[in-house]
Amino acid sequence: MHKPALKNDRYLRALMKQPVDRTPVWMMRQAGRYLPEYKATRAQAGDFMSLCRNTELACEVTLQPLRRYDLDAAILFSDILTIPDAMGLELYFETGEGPKFAKPITSVEQIEQLAVPDMGSDLRYVTDAVSLIRQELQGNVPLIGFSGSPWTLATYMVEGGSTKNFSKVKQLMFAEPEAMHKLLDVLADSVIDYLNAQIEAGAQSVMVFDTWGGVLSPRDYKLFSLTYMEKIVNGLTKESEGRTVPVTLFTKNGGQWLEAMAATGTTGLGVDWTTDLGDARARVGDQVALQGNMDPSVLYASPARIEDEVKTILASFGEGTGHVFNLGHGIHPEVDPEHAGAFIEAIHKHSPQYHK
Ligand code: CP3
Repeated sequence: MHKPALKNDRYLRALMKQPVDRTPVWMMRQAGRYLPEYKATRAQAGDFMSLCRNTELACEVTLQPLRRYDLDAAILFSDILTIPDAMGLELYFETGEGPKFAKPITSVEQIEQLAVPDMGSDLRYVTDAVSLIRQELQGNVPLIGFSGSPWTLATYMVEGGSTKNFSKVKQLMFAEPEAMHKLLDVLADSVIDYLNAQIEAGAQSVMVFDTWGGVLSPRDYKLFSLTYMEKIVNGLTKESEGRTVPVTLFTKNGGQWLEAMAATGTTGLGVDWTTDLGDARARVGDQVALQGNMDPSVLYASPARIEDEVKTILASFGEGTGHVFNLGHGIHPEVDPEHAGAFIEAIHKHSPQYHK
């Protein structure tokens, strides 16, 4: 299928550390419940997974934030838990309770039965959405594909949903380390196939969300999370449509491990707000681009306070390319869409002076 040429490539250029005229920006979870138009489409689709599986509606909600704001990238509307769902764990959402699996992993035998899902059938709805979104974007901005990290996917698969203390997954990790590694390995192979299928369908960059790597000790983080993200980085398609496909790794609360993360060969690192962006740049800025890192809760503040925070973060990173502005985690559902607009406008207004 014909894919239109890219008109705004600031996001890809900043990740590749090529010069840009201003700092590119997108927002984690930019399609979501803080937008009334998202809530309306979501109500039309029924439950969340029906929205993900409906190619036209998944495309529609991907484009909604781009109609409202001058963003530099689109992110596929889907979820990280589509892989375990395709493995047969049956993902569902109970209102107000977050994701759940009808058939969570409860035994080592179950892990031995797991196989890499077939991208052409079980996850076809995701690549169909990618193709349609690329078509509808008409080359305005690049499309980001994504997946969860093996460790983060494993936490949901073993816990059966969200958790506060990670007791089940840590029991498996400490009592049955071999089985844990087996699980992480089949997940890493699945993520590689999944992201490569998204790239083939038209994703121009990919991001790996390691939401829960930060609950591990430094040694366990390397053994149980980072090793598998490194395997993914090595297994990804490097080039598509004549351009490098940049990869961004994001470990929430992973600020202390930036050097180890950069050593995987990733193009970019997501940074949350608990790390100073200027410090992060001094540590790893010669190896990778950085994405982040405003506390999403700052969007509760007044537009003037938001602008102030944006100026502080821009000054902290300093001059030159290699920064993709973002929130340090997903936007909260209670945020006023006008405040998200003020955040984006502040980046447009104050970042050009750092790119002269
Ligand atoms: O950023 C985007 O606009 C793209 C869409 C996207 C979603 N989930 C849609 C979604 C992305 C990139 C994700 C990633 C994701 N999903 C992560 C990693 C990022 C992070 O936040 O750390 C995780 C851990 C998940 C798992 C997940 N999915 C949870 C914990 C929840 C419930 C969260 C909540 O706010 O209720 C989901 C559901 C989900 N995924 C929603 C959206 C818009 C809300 C569902 C709804 O409409 O009710």
